[in-house]
Amino acid sequence: MGRTLIGGWFDAGAVAAESIFATAGHEERIAHVADRFGIQGAVDNRRAAEFGDIVLLAVKPQTAGHVLQEIGDLLHSGQVLVSILASVSTSYIEDRLPVQIPVVRAMPNTPSRVAAGMTALCPGRFASSEHVELAERLFRPLGRTVVADEKHMDAITGLSASGPAFLYIVIEALADGGVKAGLPRKMAIELAAQTCLGAGKMVIDTGRHPALLKDEVTTPAGCTVDGILRLEEGGLRVTLIKAIIEAAARAGELVSDE
Ligand SMILES: NC(=O)c1ccc[n+]([C@@H]2O[C@H](COP(=O)([O-])OP(=O)(O)OC[C@H]3O[C@@H](n4cnc5c(N)ncnc54)[C@H](OP(=O)(O)O)[C@@H]3O)[C@@H](O)[C@H]2O)c1
Repeated sequence: MGRTLIGGWFDAGAVAAESIFATAGHEERIAHVADRFGIQGAVDNRRAAEFGDIVLLAVKPQTAGHVLQEIGDLLHSGQVLVSILASVSTSYIEDRLPVQIPVVRAMPNTPSRVAAGMTALCPGRFASSEHVELAERLFRPLGRTVVADEKHMDAITGLSASGPAFLYIVIEALADGGVKAGLPRKMAIELAAQTCLGAGKMVIDTGRHPALLKDEVTTPAGCTVDGILRLEEGGLRVTLIKAIIEAAARAGELVSDE
């Protein structure tokens, strides 16, 4: 995900290569990323912690405690620690640092790579509105941002961070339907993907409820309503609702606050 964000920032022209120092767990991984984007990088978290004003934490939630212990003594209150880790609360981070650092928790998603991301942000105990604005400026070139209450971050993780995976399956299945109806595979995928993009954009741009937009497509006794009948029969709504609930619940379990 760290690499995804860097790629998104580069394509958006939002960062200069010399302003980034990246780290990873393995030498060959960081060498590849540094080479690809022309940035500095090494398997050296302590160097990264000292490098800039914004320290972005993008390791697995289970690795957070270890990395915070490794870099904690180098961080200072003039920096902002931005964490994109699922499950890891701002207090979990604050409690593991020796000084009071502004922490902003962020939950981006992979479409950030193509400037169509959705990032939710929430401040920790020592983060001011300026720190949140700084984080918003960081993520806005990658798509949309929303400031949320921290109690909603697991639900957000289940919906907008896991969501792209669910929608890729929807796109794949829609395309399979097109293929079954006789379309070439490539065309079916393009039709399905652009239709999902367009439907999402309609909801965002018009601000209208999706049910009303659905009704506009659904001509009386037309073909759409037959398709909707099948979706309801197959339990699409219930399945999607349960998928978000399961993913959100799991997001709350990856790391405990203890
Ligand atoms: N994937 C998503 O869609 C998504 C969305 C929002 C948030 N997130 C969050 O982003 C974080 C990373 O997820 P991911 O999907 O990108 O996982 P990932 O592919 O496993 O990436 C983890 C990264 O951490 C590096 N790493 C491991 N140990 C390290 C250490 N001690 N010091 C420095 N770097 C270390 C790994 O480097 P090596 O490969 O070289 O070991 C790898 O680059 C998670 O906390 C996740 O909750 C993910």
